[in-house]
Amino acid sequence: MSEQYKKQAAERAAEDVTSGMRIGIGTGSTAEFFVHALAHRVAGGLDVIGVPTSERTQALASSLGIRLTTLDELPELDLTVDGADELDPRLALIKGGGGALLREKIVASASARMIVIADESKQVETLGQFPLPIEVVPFGLEVTRRAILKVLADLALPGELDLRGGPDDPFRTDGGHFILDARLREIADVRALADRLVAIPGVVDHGLFIDLATKAYVAGSDGVKTVLPI
Ligand code: A5P
Repeated sequence: MSEQYKKQAAERAAEDVTSGMRIGIGTGSTAEFFVHALAHRVAGGLDVIGVPTSERTQALASSLGIRLTTLDELPELDLTVDGADELDPRLALIKGGGGALLREKIVASASARMIVIADESKQVETLGQFPLPIEVVPFGLEVTRRAILKVLADLALPGELDLRGGPDDPFRTDGGHFILDARLREIADVRALADRLVAIPGVVDHGLFIDLATKAYVAGSDGVKTVLPI
């Protein structure tokens, strides 16, 4: 059922795209439905140009005939459409379950608007049930891990960090970095955590997206709801 909901939310977002738009294109299973819906509209004559947030999305979008460019060519976008692992009532997000958080955040921050597309299971009161992805450079991993643990302890959050993929074969992001997934359960103060994490030298970025999403389409048993930040 959730696949159907993801598809409905994605198709609703594709209706918001108009000719001439510069579109950031997200990553993940929900974003893939958006790529298909957008490609369908492009085949029908919609004229847009897209910037993908991952190699995966780039391959899919170009195979479906969506015209693509890079942020260097097009540093200002009209709209980004992307999925999320969790969204709260302020439309703060956890992203990065698919490992593309850094490019996703750069693209979203270059966009005038960001629409989140999700099935209703992603909606939460407080972020944190989904493990927070923290993208780190491989050099000095243990130093960075300890600095993150110190931040978590200072903020009274549980100190449970998993190196994605495991120590023998760690997952690598498109940027060649590692991801530490932090099991935090409930993040009481997302801003404090976000600020403290980015201040650690070995942290490249984290999956908290704050003040980036301007609207969400959340699909569930009652249809597709439009959610605006409170
Ligand atoms: C990719 O890195 C993520 O940020 C995705 O947007 C997020 O994990 C949602 O993915 P699904 O749409 O597959 O649930």
